Formats: sequence, structure tokens, C-alpha cells
Amino acid sequence: MYKNLFKRKPLSLLHEEMQSDNRLKRVLGPWSLTSLGIGCVIGAGIFVVTGYAAHYKAGPALLISFVVAGFACIFSALCYAEFASMAPVAGSAYTYAYATLGELLAWIIGWDLVLEYTVASASVAHGWSKYFQNFLSIFHIHVSLALSTAPFDFDPAKGLFIPTGSLFDLPALVIVAIVTTVLVIGIRESSRFNNAMVVIKVTVVLLVIAAGAFYVKAANWHPFAPFGWTGLSLFGKTLWGQTGPDGSPVGMMAGAAMIFFAYIGFDSVSTHAEEARNPQRDVPFGIITSLIICTILYIAVTIVLTGMVPYDQIDTDAPVAAAFQRVGLHWGQFVISLGAVAGITSVLLVLMLSQPRVLLAMARDGLLPESFFADIHLRFRTPWKSTILTGLAVGTLASLIPLGILAELVNIGTLFAFIIVCLSVLIMRYHHPEAHRPFRCPWVPLIPILGALLCLLLMFSLPAANWLRLAIWMVIGILIYFFYGRRHSVMAKRRAAEID
Ligand code: ALA
Repeated sequence: MYKNLFKRKPLSLLHEEMQSDNRLKRVLGPWSLTSLGIGCVIGAGIFVVTGYAAHYKAGPALLISFVVAGFACIFSALCYAEFASMAPVAGSAYTYAYATLGELLAWIIGWDLVLEYTVASASVAHGWSKYFQNFLSIFHIHVSLALSTAPFDFDPAKGLFIPTGSLFDLPALVIVAIVTTVLVIGIRESSRFNNAMVVIKVTVVLLVIAAGAFYVKAANWHPFAPFGWTGLSLFGKTLWGQTGPDGSPVGMMAGAAMIFFAYIGFDSVSTHAEEARNPQRDVPFGIITSLIICTILYIAVTIVLTGMVPYDQIDTDAPVAAAFQRVGLHWGQFVISLGAVAGITSVLLVLMLSQPRVLLAMARDGLLPESFFADIHLRFRTPWKSTILTGLAVGTLASLIPLGILAELVNIGTLFAFIIVCLSVLIMRYHHPEAHRPFRCPWVPLIPILGALLCLLLMFSLPAANWLRLAIWMVIGILIYFFYGRRHSVMAKRRAAEID
């Protein structure tokens, strides 16, 4: 039994599986993959979280926070790209871990990706609802309080749940239902819809940078790092730097841990490897290009935003739109709300596209019921049952659970996945130095080690509650593995047959 837990899935088997019939359609080219990456990255992070992080965590030094988080992502992206080129099947970090670290750790990382994609989708649907309501308010249309938000909120300062007077968040539920329908119908349609959304949001971001640059005042960048350059904590105890009024760390590093959210999603490109026309070449291209484009845009928006408004006056609900209002650019609210709604829609689309593909890979290995999670629709060629299940889970979380609780869980889960991928590249180089690697991560072992260390540093910079929630999530996952996955594992059955 012990041996089965750490049984690795041979690379040859992954390649063999890629030839079978029950596969996804190969329709995505390099720019569609890049667009999926950008589609999944630019959203609530830049349009919402930036304001909060500059105001309360880092001040103008948030610009450096973006650079630090960007490096953690670039190093991890290079590792993702190497794996995606070696094993271009659906499943992303889960599949890479199965090939290097064995079944139990692969399950843990797959379970962790459920946290990343489903909970991130729910957080993003929340952000969509807020910006959509903001957009409607321009036309004096207001969603009734009973249907406008989650029924309760969490006050971190008092540690209490507070009723909001609402029953559930109707706009969040509606957008999740629409996106689920688009996803069931097909990857090609989803990709076209995504491309249109990406064009709108990138145009709006470029407009923000170009128009906002004329209103930048250098005086707003002084002091540059009002909360200091650190903000490191360990399980909630501040180790280095200042602590904010609610007891959580503040400073440039704490800002980096928070705005890491804005980068989440580029890894989703690797979950579409199976739908890429030329995965070995195009998936690394899509991952790295989308990440570089987003990093440049983020840094430019942060320079403009912190230059337009003194950091302690930056709005925390709709910071970019509010900055434009402030300097008298009143068209800003309309254009930016529209860009945010389009931007956040495509983030939701790609996150919800990725989740069923990870579940599909896990089901093919027998760790989840195959008849449900690996059932590909005959006409649409999409994993329709798990797409609908994902929609139900995201819709329920998004309409009932407050944003603060959802968003906190996402960063820690994703950082954990990145660490595993960086380490897996090192292990794979050691075990299979001969394997064909169409894309090789440069400067191994330096890049994977730096990637893992930076992600670990960011994990430590998150408040303590995240660690507790991650631990609870993992315990639930491990129980499911021992009661279901271990007994149905395809690899364990193969192994038993070999022994007989
Ligand atoms: N990176 C995604 C966003 O910012 C999750 O919305």
C-alpha cells in the first residue's frame, strides 16, 4: 500500500494516453493560448485588489510588489512551460506531480487546484457582480438589496460575521450560469468569446495608462514605501516589518502576497495543452508571452494609479474608475466599468474552463469517478458533466459566501501549486535526464529553486487564517483520497496486475 501512494505515472504512459480516442479537440493556436492566458489573468486583481493593496499594504511601493510577485510567477512559468512541453495533456500541475512525486502528492496538488480554480472563480464572480452593479448605476438602475450580495460578511477587525440584509448575489449567479452554458457548448466558441473580451479589456487598460499618465504627479510617490519594504510573517506572527490595525502584516512583501492574486491564471494555459494544435511549441509560448504582457501592463497601471492619487486616498472598491473621476475624467467610470466587466468575464470563463480539465485528468487516473468526470460530450467534445458541476459549485459559493473569505484562500492554494511544479522540474531532471524536452527551463537548478523560495516567501507573507483554511481543505482531500481514490486508482490496479 505504501508503495502505491508514491507510485509515479511513467512519462511513456502519458504519451500513450494522448493517442487514445476519448481526447479533447485540438483547435488552439499560439495566440489563442496567449489570449487564454491574458483572459485569465487581467481581471479583478488589477481593477480591484490593486487599490486595496496600495492603500493598506504597500503605498506606491506596490509597483515593486508587482515586480516581486511577477518574478515568482515568471520562474514558476518557466517550470510550467518545461512540463507542458514534455507532457501536453490536460491536468497541469496535477499531471506533472503524478509523473514525478507519485500518486498521493499528485492527488494533493489536484485537490489544491480545485481550490485555486473553483474558489478563484467564485471570488471573480463576486468582483463581476460589484462592477456590473457599478455599471448599471450609471444608468440609475439598482439591483434590490435582497439580491445584491452574499447574506453575510466577515469583519476581520472584530472577527465576527455580520448579516448584510441580502439573501444571495443574483448577478454573480447569473454570470456563472451564462459562462457554464458557453463552456458546455464548446472550446472553440469559448475561445472566440474569450478573444473578444481580451481585446476589450486590454484596450481599456492601455487607455487607462495613456490617459492617466497626463495626470501623474511625482509628489504622490513620496513617501514611496510608507509601510516599509518588508511585511514578512510566519503563520500570522510578524517576523520582519510592521503590522496593520487588524494584526496582519503590511509592507512591500505583504503587498506582493496580496496582489499575487492578479497573476493567478497564467498557469491555466497548461491545462489546455490537450486542446493545443502544436502543444510542445505553443503552450510554453502562450504561458510566457501572456505573463510578460500582463506584468508590463500591471506595472504601468500601478505607476499611473499611485501617481494620480495619494496612496492613502486611493478608493478600494473601484480604484481605477475613482482615480479618473477624481481628476475630472468623467467618461472614466463608463469605460473602465465596461472594461472591468468584460475583463472579469473572461477571467471567469478561463478559470471555469480549466477546472473540469483538471478533474478530467484525475478521473482518467481513477482518482475520481470516471463515468462522471471523464465523460466527453459526443457532439460538443467537452467534459460537460464536470463543467456543469463546477458551475453549480462556483454559483453556490459566489452567491452565498463573502468575497474576503474566498479571495484569501486562493493565493495560498496557488502558491502551493507553484512550489510543487518548481520542485517537480528538479526531480524530473534527476530521474529522467534523457526525456525529450522541447522547451527547457533555463538555468536549472537556479530558476526552479528561486521560484520555489519566492513562492514560499509569499506564502509566509499571508495572514494566518489562510494557513488554517488550507490545512482544513487538505485534510478533507486526503480523506477523500483514502476512501475513494486509493481504491480505484488505475495505476494501483496496473501494479496489482503486474504483481499477479
Ligand atoms: N488574476 C485574476 C484576476 O485578477 C484572478 O482577476
